[in-house]
Amino acid sequence: MTASPPLPQPVAESLLRSLVGLGKAQLLYPPGHVAVTRALQALERSLGPALESRSPLLLAKTTSHFLVGGVPTLPDDGLAVDMVRWFASREVEAVEIGPGATAAEVGRFLAWLTSTGSKSWRSAHVRTRRVDQGTAWQRGSRAYRETLDVLEVAYREAQEGRIPDPDRACRCVRSFLEILDEDPDVAKGLALLKSYDRYTFHHSVNVCLLALSLGQHLALPPATLEILGVGALLHDIGKTRTPPEIVRKPGRLNEGEWAAMRRHPTLGREILEAMAGIPTTADRLVYEHHMLYDGGGYPERPAGYRPAELSALVTVVDAFDAMTTHRPYSRPLPLPEAVAQVLWQSGKSFDPLAAEVFRQAVGTVPVGSTVRLASGEVGVVTRLAGDGEIGEVRVVVDPMGRRLPPEDQPLRVVTGQEVLRWVDPLIHGINPHEILSRRP
Ligand SMILES: [Fe+2]
Repeated sequence: MTASPPLPQPVAESLLRSLVGLGKAQLLYPPGHVAVTRALQALERSLGPALESRSPLLLAKTTSHFLVGGVPTLPDDGLAVDMVRWFASREVEAVEIGPGATAAEVGRFLAWLTSTGSKSWRSAHVRTRRVDQGTAWQRGSRAYRETLDVLEVAYREAQEGRIPDPDRACRCVRSFLEILDEDPDVAKGLALLKSYDRYTFHHSVNVCLLALSLGQHLALPPATLEILGVGALLHDIGKTRTPPEIVRKPGRLNEGEWAAMRRHPTLGREILEAMAGIPTTADRLVYEHHMLYDGGGYPERPAGYRPAELSALVTVVDAFDAMTTHRPYSRPLPLPEAVAQVLWQSGKSFDPLAAEVFRQAVGTVPVGSTVRLASGEVGVVTRLAGDGEIGEVRVVVDPMGRRLPPEDQPLRVVTGQEVLRWVDPLIHGINPHEILSRRP
């Protein structure tokens, strides 16, 4: 295959000018504003001839130049300077505009490129290449933020009676699976991220990450993991059809409110059933996530009805994440205590097999727990060994009780025998999530 020649200089210049023009117009004016419409039309006029001469078109930032369809422009050139800055802020190395790309599609890419928000952007004809994908933790954090945004949109769509886009949820699950494949402890650490304001979305993402961790531990096939992940991510989406004053009520619910709340698994199943392309068994999981092993929970079911195995996994991690989260009517339990609660309820509320998989995958002293070692040091669990045993601790406080600066916090391989007990991270001013984010 021979490389096509560079764009004619005037075509490249006109394209670059219209790209920057649209990027700036979208930054300054709302969609539909005359300035944005004109900039879009200008891009339409320059994009057509450019794609005719060279397809796909590559815009790329090199160490010395900004390339537009093979034509080099100096990075401090009046036109390229904005593109170079925007590319750098999004860590984009290159963007490929394929045949069939429209000006509107390129416009959406530019809106993403120039914004600082975490909103994800995807397109069939425009693809980016990242400079540096970063560590598994950094990529996982990005996937986490993008999933929060995807969920927020899905909830809004469901609230307005529209059908959420199933592909977006599936893509989020696939990106989590990639992180899990690379480093399962990263996924478990990310699942510790909480937010009081965005509780519902964080809870759903955490349940998804934890459920996938259990699924991976069971070596479930990829298609089953996808079902598990999508169902876990959307397990509470039925709450969008529950009156918000009931969902957000800080105190205990009265009988009528509780009856309305108990309908959310059924409502959630209806939403998933309408989402074409969602794996069919995911809606069962949403319907069954509050069904307890001993027959308790809800919705009511005929005698002998058994929730699916995947549902039992979600029931366990749903309860675990709720126990470890600060809610209006209860304080969060330390991670090892929440695990102990789950194991104590094994064979009662929770399916014993699901509880055992949970113990093995999440561990009795999970990643992110703060522990005192026999040496007198205090640290945060950063890795598990096989079978849910402690594997590695980042030491944060020395045996004299002195807080170590970040550059002097050693990673120590430890066994369960070296751990005296878990401690409250707040007493030592430790933020376990921050410690975990520094993993190499
Ligand atoms: Fe629920």
